[in-house]
Amino acid sequence: MSESAAQEISMGRRQLLSYVTGGAIAATTLAALYPVVQYFLPPSSSGGGGGATAKDRAGKDIAVDKLLADSAPIDRVISLGIDVNGGDATYIVINDKQIANYGINAVCTHLGCVVPWDTGAQLFKCPCHGSQYNADGSLHRGPAPMPLALVKAAVQDNHVVFSPWTEQDFRCSDLWCNKDPYWK
Ligand code: FES
Repeated sequence: MSESAAQEISMGRRQLLSYVTGGAIAATTLAALYPVVQYFLPPSSSGGGGGATAKDRAGKDIAVDKLLADSAPIDRVISLGIDVNGGDATYIVINDKQIANYGINAVCTHLGCVVPWDTGAQLFKCPCHGSQYNADGSLHRGPAPMPLALVKAAVQDNHVVFSPWTEQDFRCSDLWCNKDPYWK
């Protein structure tokens, strides 16, 4: 075998070795990154049509029968819902032991704190600057400028499925939608 042929074979082996090594490193890196990427992706379970199944704090789908059994006749139960206004904490609305056809985004429209539900007062009360919202998420008092955002809610297979709200906001009149009635 000539010297140049031997060099070519040696080069070919080195290239093959570097491809194999590079492929192994890429595969290892991708495998290591997969859980990290998954963490930042939205929940995969979906109700179809762009909806998202409401989940509890542990990330499990909420079962409607258990939820209704454990809740007051009129209640607001926080869940992981769909992303509206940069936040995905969403209240399931229970009226007369029924799941309402809308949910309420839990992110305050003032500066983005999550608003807790006060059962006694039947209001959402923002702990950050004192805004208050009525049980349907409409504005009760500022400084928040707008009602809490709505999402659609539907019961499917014993789960609550949220989807984007696309209709007119039923809580607003032409006169004061998105204005603070507290100051009128
Ligand atoms: Fe809610 Fe300011 S963030 S009142």
